[in-house]
Amino acid sequence: MNILITGSAGFIGYHLTKKILKKNIKVFGIDNINNYYDTNLKENRIKDLKKSKKFFFYKIDLSEYKKLHNLVKRNKIKYIIHLAAQAGVRYSIKNPKMYFKSNMEGFFNILEVSRHNNIKHLIYASTSSVYGNTNKFPLSESDNTDHPLSFYAATKKSNEIMAYSYSYIYKLPSTGVRFFTVYGPFGRPDMALFKFTKSIIKNQSIELFNNGKHLRDFTYVDDIVEGVFSLIKKESKKSIPYEIFNIGNGNPKKLIDYLKFIEKKLNRSSSIKKLPLQIGDIIKTHSDIKKLKKYTGYNPKTNINTGVNKFIEWYKDYYKLN
Ligand SMILES: NC(=O)c1ccc[n+]([C@@H]2O[C@H](COP(=O)([O-])OP(=O)(O)OC[C@H]3O[C@@H](n4cnc5c(N)ncnc54)[C@H](O)[C@@H]3O)[C@@H](O)[C@H]2O)c1
Repeated sequence: MNILITGSAGFIGYHLTKKILKKNIKVFGIDNINNYYDTNLKENRIKDLKKSKKFFFYKIDLSEYKKLHNLVKRNKIKYIIHLAAQAGVRYSIKNPKMYFKSNMEGFFNILEVSRHNNIKHLIYASTSSVYGNTNKFPLSESDNTDHPLSFYAATKKSNEIMAYSYSYIYKLPSTGVRFFTVYGPFGRPDMALFKFTKSIIKNQSIELFNNGKHLRDFTYVDDIVEGVFSLIKKESKKSIPYEIFNIGNGNPKKLIDYLKFIEKKLNRSSSIKKLPLQIGDIIKTHSDIKKLKKYTGYNPKTNINTGVNKFIEWYKDYYKLN
């Protein structure tokens, strides 16, 4: 069973690839290693993955259709897990074009590669951002997702709709997974946990939007990976083989409390620069995970205390601060 993972140099892609390699399954990884954040992190993830003889990495951009197609065809790949994308809500306000290229054109190429190679299951990353602002919680897959607050969310919602048409027309089994604020070791430097930790350690002030009153369903990366892994062989058998699942923790926390966990673990306090709510930001996320629980037995295990500890241990080790 050969698997292609796009975005394997990325945060979630790295952890998912590691998990699959442990099962002794061959993984073909692609990534363009772009400089949205420190490329050393991406290079080091790949270096670590390459310790396994079952991992094969190719530096390919999603726009390079022929290369993608040849890779899939040559290696008889039948499962694709598509995680490569331009991520981040705030950056999409300044640079919508990057999102159009990677998330729309790029996703179209993945759909085409999938249909021309008779892929047995395409799993692709969507996001909790598709829910926009609402008053009804927890957020369930059947809730309305027609009002994205950012272009990032708009591209991910579009992916779900594009996938539906391929599932309907070409019978491509597709599953969209809506991730809820993922955190953990080797995480993304543009996300709260990484930024807060770095600032506290360097005695720099922390920019806290909306007074830290946002609520986020922080989900530890291993739980996300378990959720995705549990779906690989579970493609929809319906006449339109299309599914959407939330993958979250189901237990939202205030951003300010998340910061307190970090301060406690670092045994330091932070200086805070309060900033207003940012355009595009959602006030609250809280996933309803019943659907995936029922479908695969998904059961997130890591609480915020353990998860934050693991991140900080990784951070100190990686940047040699011990
Ligand atoms: N981390 C989260 O909290 C979160 C939440 C919801 C959804 N997601 C989604 O999950 C997926 C993985 O996110 P992540 O946090 O690991 O982000 P990441 O930025 O660490 O990983 C994405 C990877 O894709 C690569 N990439 C981007 N554009 C590409 C292109 N055109 N061609 C080839 N490679 C390209 C990047 O170099 C990067 O390594 C993304 O689709 C993201 O939108 C993440």
